[in-house]
Amino acid sequence: MRLLVVGDIIGNPGRRALKKFLETEGKELNYQFLVVNGENAAGGFGITEKVYKTLKSLGVDAITTGNHVWDKKETWNFIGKTKDLLRPANYPDTVPGLGWNIFEKNGVRIAVINLMGLTFMNPYLENPFLTFDRIYEEVKNRSDIVVVDFHAEATSEKNAFVLYVKGRAQLVFGTHTHIPTADERIIDGQTAYITDVGMSGVLNSVIGVEFKRSLPYYLQGIKKKFYIAEKGDVVFNALLVEFDESFKPVKVERIQRLYRWEELKEISV
Ligand SMILES: [Fe+2]
Ligand SMILES: [Fe+2]
Repeated sequence: MRLLVVGDIIGNPGRRALKKFLETEGKELNYQFLVVNGENAAGGFGITEKVYKTLKSLGVDAITTGNHVWDKKETWNFIGKTKDLLRPANYPDTVPGLGWNIFEKNGVRIAVINLMGLTFMNPYLENPFLTFDRIYEEVKNRSDIVVVDFHAEATSEKNAFVLYVKGRAQLVFGTHTHIPTADERIIDGQTAYITDVGMSGVLNSVIGVEFKRSLPYYLQGIKKKFYIAEKGDVVFNALLVEFDESFKPVKVERIQRLYRWEELKEISV
């Protein structure tokens, strides 16, 4: 069983790179399940129903999100109708949408759990470590592979989390910082891990945001409305994880591609 994970997809350039990658290399990777983080998939901020459908049409099995999930007003209304667009599970029950679900693919049951860290982030969510404990009790006898998107800012929190869930989750991948880390590994033969997968978005930008729009913040302390970088070479970051017959992770491979804008500009998504 092979899982392909794609980190935060930043707007249209990120979606184009995803499509390009899947069209050119998807088949040979021979993955059976595709998870992407879609919190920035619509214009860099949130996800619309249209973009959700676009990602589904590219063959995405599960979409995770994070702190940007509510940036588009419509998400609040449609997320509850979907079973495969997740929002962090440590939001309270008064918030619509699922925080985790079990997907069946080729006879393999994959539990995908979306959690958000607390360090330097929203402090009003439930403790993600304890949220995991609770959800794990519900999924452990109903799934073969447990996957967690731990959407968090602090590398320390992410590293503490994976060691806490080691052996219970078979794959923990970090998202949110948009910058990939070089620490992918399998911990004690039990849990595949990377602190951050990294984004799919314009490379020479400020984690996807156009540099010029971000500059007043750094020079004057004034935050202007951010726009994503719309044109430019796009970096695509992903993680491929292979599981053996007993659903233990046996191989983890970091993938990075750089697409010239000329290669992407004709692609419509
Ligand atoms: Fe993000
Ligand atoms: Fe985020």
